[in-house]
Order: sequence, then C-alpha cells, then structure tokens
Amino acid sequence: MTVALIVAAGTGERLGAGRPKALVELAGRPMLFHSIEALRAVAGIERIVVARPPGGALHGIDSVEGGETRSESVRRALAAAGGEDELVLVHDAARPLLTPELAERVIGALIADPAAEAAVAAAPVSDTIKRVGADGAVLETLSRSELWSVQTPQVFRREALVRALDVGAEQLAGATDDASLIERAGGRVIVVPSDSANLKVTTPVDLRLAELLLAERHGPAR
Ligand code: CTP
Ligand code: MG
Repeated sequence: MTVALIVAAGTGERLGAGRPKALVELAGRPMLFHSIEALRAVAGIERIVVARPPGGALHGIDSVEGGETRSESVRRALAAAGGEDELVLVHDAARPLLTPELAERVIGALIADPAAEAAVAAAPVSDTIKRVGADGAVLETLSRSELWSVQTPQVFRREALVRALDVGAEQLAGATDDASLIERAGGRVIVVPSDSANLKVTTPVDLRLAELLLAERHGPAR
C-alpha cells in the first residue's frame, strides 16, 4: 500500500499572490485541492497527508504544519503518516495538473523494478541547456538526449526515503527534490516519462497556463 504526502507549506514568494501558493484559487478552488482530488482517485493510495502552510488545519484533510524547507515539510508529513505503508508518494501542491494515471504509472514503475529505491516523473528537456561560468561565458553545451526535467510525483520505498531524509539540516535544505538525496547515497532512481503539461506553478504566467489547461480538461463552461 502507498501513502501519499503532498507538500503545500511553501510561501509562494515568486508567485507573489500575498498568501501561500497552495491556497491560491485556481479553476474555482484552492490549488492544493486539485492534487488531492487526483490522488484520491489512484488505485493503491489509501491515505493522503498534507504538509500545510502555517495558519490552521484544513477541514476534512489529514495534515501537519510544514517546515522551513521543502524537505523538512516532507519529513514532517512522513512522520505524521506513521510507518505502515511500504511505498511513499511525494507530490508538490504546486503541480495541480497531476492526473491519477501519471501517479499510477510512477507507482507501477517502482514496483516493477525491485533494484530501484525511487521512481520519479520526468519530461525530456526541450531547450538546449548550457553550463555558464560566473563571468557569463559558456563553459559547455550539454547533450540534450541525456537531460530530463524532473517533476513530482516521486515514489519511494519507505526505508530509502527515511534514510535519505536522515541527513544534516544543511544538506536537507540544499535538496530541491528528495530523489537527489537518494542518488547522492548511491541509490538507484528511475525516471518515468511524463508530460510537460504536469507543470509547476512558480510564477503568475504558470498560474495562467494552469488555468487554461484545467479549463480545457474540464470542457467548456456553461
Ligand atoms: N514547500 C513546502 N515547504 C516549504 C517549501 C516548499 O511544503 N518550506 C512545498 C511548496 O508548497 C510546493 C513545493 O514544496 O508545493 C515546491 O516548492 P516551490 O514551488 O518552491 O514553492 P514555494 O516555496 O511556495 O515557492 P517560492 O519558492 O516561490 O517561495
Ligand atoms: Mg520554494
């Protein structure tokens, strides 16, 4: 069985909406609720625990107050979830276009690869990526065929995630995703091809795009 953790405790500085990003209205409800709805429809997920922003509990939803960093929020949600489930799915509330189908594929990929400790949704990069030095000059152009843009959901074997999060505060703060902590320890992490439509809402432009994609998905309004 799988427990799903949604990290929603960020302030959303770059969106600049004046309140926590996960609670910003998107297609008629708080952004967080789009992910909750998708994960509730996933076969094998029985529980969802949210790392919420400061300011009080969320009605009808299992939640715990998040931490200073994303990884700290994951750690708190995992602690609140207890130790029963074999697999742990971690998802950012900032990715409201999640579909049950994608979550199921990521879970399925991990189950199908016993040597892997984690499976992560990812899309092949479409831009040419260059490494640039501090002086603004290009150092190298990376081979695009090997580059993937990593998303959530990310699914972990529980012990692997617990071990990965058991590091010092500085290393934890530096990790923009949890899978990188596993890679650093030499663990096998596999990617599951996803769509760029599973976008992360970071800036106002992203929010606008998410609105449009959700409107399209739900059909014309009457
Ligand atoms: N997150 C969290 N706890 C934190 C920081 C981030 O739970 N202390 C969550 C966010 O709520 C979001 C996800 O991690 O769902 C990805 O983080 P990001 O997109 O950076 O969101 P924010 O940190 O809120 O945005 P910003 O960096 O612009 O402030
Ligand atoms: Mg952030």
